[in-house]
Amino acid sequence: MKYLMHKGYNIPLIGFGTWNIGDYKNKEKDEINTMVYGIKNHDMTLIDTAEMYGDGRSERLVSSVIKEFDRDKLFIVGKILPTNAKDGLYIESCKRSLENLGIKYFDLYLLHWNIGLDLNDMVKNMEKLKSVGLIKEWGVSNFDVSDMEELFRCKDGDKCFLNQVLYNMCARGIEYDLIPWCKAHNVAVMAYSPLCNSKADRECVTNNKAIKDIALRNDRSECSLMLSFVIRNSDVITVVKTSSITHLDSNIKNVFNPLNDGSLEEINRIYPAPSKKVPLKTI
Ligand SMILES: NC(=O)c1ccc[n+]([C@@H]2O[C@H](COP(=O)([O-])OP(=O)(O)OC[C@H]3O[C@@H](n4cnc5c(N)ncnc54)[C@H](OP(=O)(O)O)[C@@H]3O)[C@@H](O)[C@H]2O)c1
Repeated sequence: MKYLMHKGYNIPLIGFGTWNIGDYKNKEKDEINTMVYGIKNHDMTLIDTAEMYGDGRSERLVSSVIKEFDRDKLFIVGKILPTNAKDGLYIESCKRSLENLGIKYFDLYLLHWNIGLDLNDMVKNMEKLKSVGLIKEWGVSNFDVSDMEELFRCKDGDKCFLNQVLYNMCARGIEYDLIPWCKAHNVAVMAYSPLCNSKADRECVTNNKAIKDIALRNDRSECSLMLSFVIRNSDVITVVKTSSITHLDSNIKNVFNPLNDGSLEEINRIYPAPSKKVPLKTI
């Protein structure tokens, strides 16, 4: 595993996404086994959860995964729904998620997305969660540059630890302004859906003949190449969902090895970097 050092924390560059996990009884065994395997064999100690995922089912499934590990060795991210981001409900939501997960604190707690909330209140409530020890750090998700600017105008807004946003080979808009903005303001970036989320979108990439050639030349699978691309500068963390040990192994194999000369230029020709502002994509 490779790590990003941010504000005193060593965070794995690749962690587990858990959206849709725990939704089907017949998949639970594979979901648990894959995560346990990834933590043990690939040091994937970063786990991204949210109260929204399966209305708590995903958090409860993760509790079965993490119970056999030393809590302090894990970096667990939670997300509060914007509809619960109201005075009073913060503590309730956070405690409910922690109970589902069977843990006492979140390493990082994010506002899942913004629906025109008063960000001053959000910061105040997040800082309160920190002060009572329910979370160590707080951050945001799906915030574009203008949202980040608004956040930083709030008292203590600059204590935001991280922004979790959509980023993959086919959705590169954040390279133009959001990544540079976050770097300049010491906010880490976490990429979600690094494999494009949907099978159809992912296969547009993985079935592309030129991408297949680049992956082959770099001795890794097409999915591993997609992950290598996202973490290529070791400045973006990513979370990927898989419930298959075979997929996991192929995603991780050689993923941290630098890409051969010319590979990035070829990828840029197929999926160009943004040359102007692109509004942040979300799913
Ligand atoms: N903050 C937000 O608003 C937000 C939004 C979306 C996602 N997220 C977070 O980001 C995480 C990751 O994003 P995501 O789940 O949307 O999508 P993703 O990680 O880009 O893709 C997940 C899909 O890829 C498949 N997959 C994984 N490895 C594969 C391989 N080697 N070959 C073929 N298929 C493979 C998985 O199926 P298998 O299980 O069969 O491998 C799964 O269907 C989420 O789980 C969630 O934690 C956050």
